[in-house]
Amino acid sequence: MVVTICIGSSCHLKGSREIVHTLETLIKEYKVEDQVQLTGSFCMGECVKGVCVKVDDKSYSLNPDNTREFFMQEVLECLPRED
Ligand code: FES
Repeated sequence: MVVTICIGSSCHLKGSREIVHTLETLIKEYKVEDQVQLTGSFCMGECVKGVCVKVDDKSYSLNPDNTREFFMQEVLECLPRED
């Protein structure tokens, strides 16, 4: 799964760096480094809503406060289980 985070200037001001950091930490915490790839992107044209994050082709608007919830619901839940 590829998670793309906008690092354009508007999203940067809304905390994209903090979101990247939170996601990196969560990925390590749940040991899904092999399954989740984080990548950055320049402005995706949806700056108005919040920090623009895409999971494959679906986009979300995040802020630092809902990043953990997003990770649980949209990333972790969607990964194929190994057990
Ligand atoms: S700066 Fe992030 S979508 Fe525009």
